[in-house]
Amino acid sequence: MVGKLFIPGPSEVRRAVLEELSRPQIGHRTQEFRELFASLKPGLKKVFFTQNDVLISTSSGSGLWEAASRCCASKKILHAVNGAFSSKWADVSESCGKEVVRVKFGNGAAVKACDVEKALSAGNYEAFCMVHNETSTGVASCLEEMSEVMKGFPDVLFLVDAVSSLGGMKIEVDKLGIDVCLASSQKALALPAGISVVSVSPRAYKKAETVSGRGYYFDLLEMKKAYDKDETPYTPSIPHLFALRKQLERIENEGIENRLERHRKMAEYARSWAKDNGFEMFPEKGHESDTVSCIENTRKLDFKSIKQEMAKKGYSVDSGYGKLNEKLEAEGKHTTFRIAHMGDLTLGEVKELLAELGSLF
Ligand SMILES: Cc1ncc(COP(=O)(O)O)c(C=O)c1O
Repeated sequence: MVGKLFIPGPSEVRRAVLEELSRPQIGHRTQEFRELFASLKPGLKKVFFTQNDVLISTSSGSGLWEAASRCCASKKILHAVNGAFSSKWADVSESCGKEVVRVKFGNGAAVKACDVEKALSAGNYEAFCMVHNETSTGVASCLEEMSEVMKGFPDVLFLVDAVSSLGGMKIEVDKLGIDVCLASSQKALALPAGISVVSVSPRAYKKAETVSGRGYYFDLLEMKKAYDKDETPYTPSIPHLFALRKQLERIENEGIENRLERHRKMAEYARSWAKDNGFEMFPEKGHESDTVSCIENTRKLDFKSIKQEMAKKGYSVDSGYGKLNEKLEAEGKHTTFRIAHMGDLTLGEVKELLAELGSLF
């Protein structure tokens, strides 16, 4: 049974947005399409707090990992690794033929700017990659501190995965000097899975011009050429673009700052619910995400049956990131479960969910 989604992606999509998917198709080389595409640009820039281009890819976020890794370095990339997704991105860079060095942090730890600074000083890197919001552990790293460090390395591009935070946590791309910031549709943007968005700085395009082997589908320069004509290089998922137009309107109506505040409130509520119910938060203190709360299962709840019981009540919940839990279990530590409070969910819905969850133990 499918319930309302409180899992860390795909997130719950509102009916008005879902309905956009069933609009009749339009040709992607028509004026109507160009008008649709152009109408998306201002709203996307607002969500990213940027004047940079925000490109749209008909792929999930992983495709944009590949785009960033392929296009932004000829050879050497430094990756911060503090969980499953940051680790995976580093693997993707390697599989794109780049020489990857990893600066590692423990599970539940945030990326530390001083360690990154040391690592950057030790090598001739072209790009530095980090995940802002490690969905596997619910850890949000500090982009402001990292941005300060990056100022000392003007030749290194700053690439950020904001897959599970964009639209739910503030990421001021221009202020932070982020060259590439990528996000998936199915997380805090509360859209159906299937597209992803990426802001790209002029510096990143310039670098890409010097990089060979960028491929075609994920070549940021191909995407840029089409973007400037309000088009995409190839047939995009047109239904998603209708849905994105609707969702950007909805974000504008709510106000981006109100949206971020709503996420802060939902997160605060989830954290205090955890504490009041005798649990501990998994992330390092002060680095808890506003879009997903990762909670230590200190009371050893049987999440297999809880998930089933919650599904019967109409809620879809998560029992923690599989590989992380396996590792924690092997180390004799408490496993985790995650409460996602991202996208268009309201504080009222989070309260309702947690009350139902609490009634099961
Ligand atoms: C932080 C993070 N990065 C990247 C990905 C991969 O994104 P996608 O599944 O959209 O390819 C995920 C997926 O959950 C994620 O949470």
